[in-house]
Amino acid sequence: MKQLIDKIRRREARCGVIGLGYVGLPLALEFARAGLRVTGIDLDRRKIDAINAGKSYIVDVSDDEIAGPVKAGRFDATAEFAVIRDLDTINICVPTPLRKTKDPDLTYIVSAVSEIKKYLRPGQLVILESTTYPGTTDEVVQPALEAGGLKAGVDFALAFSPERIDPGNPKFKTRNIPKVVGGLTPGCTEAAAALYAQCIDTVVPVSSPRVAEMVKLLENTFRSVNIGLVNEIALMCHSIDIDVWEVIDAAKTKPFGFMAFYPGPGLGGHCIPIDPFYLSWKAKMHGFEPRFIELAGHINEGMPRFVVEVVTDALNTHSKSLRGSRIHILGVAYKAGVNDVRESPALNVMRMLQDKGAILTYSDPYIPSIREEGFDLDAIELTNGWLGDVDCTVVLTNHPEFDYANVVRTSKLVVDTRNALQGHQGDHIFRL
Ligand SMILES: NC(=O)c1ccc[n+]([C@@H]2O[C@H](COP(=O)([O-])OP(=O)(O)OC[C@H]3O[C@@H](n4cnc5c(N)ncnc54)[C@H](O)[C@@H]3O)[C@@H](O)[C@H]2O)c1
Repeated sequence: MKQLIDKIRRREARCGVIGLGYVGLPLALEFARAGLRVTGIDLDRRKIDAINAGKSYIVDVSDDEIAGPVKAGRFDATAEFAVIRDLDTINICVPTPLRKTKDPDLTYIVSAVSEIKKYLRPGQLVILESTTYPGTTDEVVQPALEAGGLKAGVDFALAFSPERIDPGNPKFKTRNIPKVVGGLTPGCTEAAAALYAQCIDTVVPVSSPRVAEMVKLLENTFRSVNIGLVNEIALMCHSIDIDVWEVIDAAKTKPFGFMAFYPGPGLGGHCIPIDPFYLSWKAKMHGFEPRFIELAGHINEGMPRFVVEVVTDALNTHSKSLRGSRIHILGVAYKAGVNDVRESPALNVMRMLQDKGAILTYSDPYIPSIREEGFDLDAIELTNGWLGDVDCTVVLTNHPEFDYANVVRTSKLVVDTRNALQGHQGDHIFRL
């Protein structure tokens, strides 16, 4: 282990990152920026070709950020796992989705680990970064790797370090988000901490992979439960005719003991709607019934239906039904400023509107088309008269690129689920 740590500190270690998505690509670039030589491994040919051509496919990463290290020979990408033989460190950043039954789907981790096992050699460091339930590193990854004959903590180092990146956040990026690290042994923690210390400002060691796995799930459960709470408060305020947005704005003037969360059309992205269910699955395996997670999930998953109800009520004021009405959606990405529709609540709202006979169009500067889940739509560039021709405009994602004053001025009806129309008044505006 000492040899590996010295090699890392001399920045002579060769790093590998498996899975070059929203998490893996920025991490690989941080290693490269620190002067380490990095190879990214992915199954997706398009990503490999893009990287080797110096092109980005992630909003937060520019072409130049990739092209620089590629040209300097510090970063390349491949689909060949045999390269693992030559690597000193391997970070796993593959997806961890849920099955339809809300059980964890570890297929991607298991597949990546079975490839690593084929090429694993003494002196290497393997770190799992994918968000997962506590116990994955020592119950799933460790035995799978040890099946090749080497012992974790003795022959190779094994650790878990949760990724906490927030796509679209200009202030906090991989480098300045503290990195929690839990190794299987103190030596494993030391090796993993040494690697991150090369390119991340603050490293936070914890006593085990399980603690590190749980840290990430606490953070995301905290968000999910607080969003669930504020969504319920929004439903409550709606029924007693109070503007929930005004309430939150005033409440957040309290300088301590309150943290603002905002209601919306539901949860989206690859983290908040999914991760808490990894935890509840694990808790149930141990006979523990997690009530907050299930309740927040229930409330958050009900929000798209509530949005449809608000749209129906808005149309009703113009004596129109959903069936046959033309509805224009503003924003389908799961949050402002990202080009990601995974788990986006916008798709749930749109599906319900479509099922009830509404005729849908949409605009989103980040999502040129939607071809998944029964949709076959191309984004429409908003021209001046467009919104005046539809029956209702629905703001589902508050991208800053939209001209909201124009939306208010030209729409016949607007349903705003994100408080994007803050400060605008009018009988034709309906808020969550
Ligand atoms: N996106 C986020 O904001 C975020 C934030 C923190 C943590 N996470 C967690 O990080 C993990 C990765 O998420 P992401 O958003 O980067 O996913 P992603 O889908 O953007 O990227 C995953 C990449 O892994 C590749 N891949 C899948 N199986 C592979 C295999 N067996 N071998 C090699 N490559 C493989 C895919 O082709 C894809 O390019 C997940 O566990 C997620 O929960 C995501």
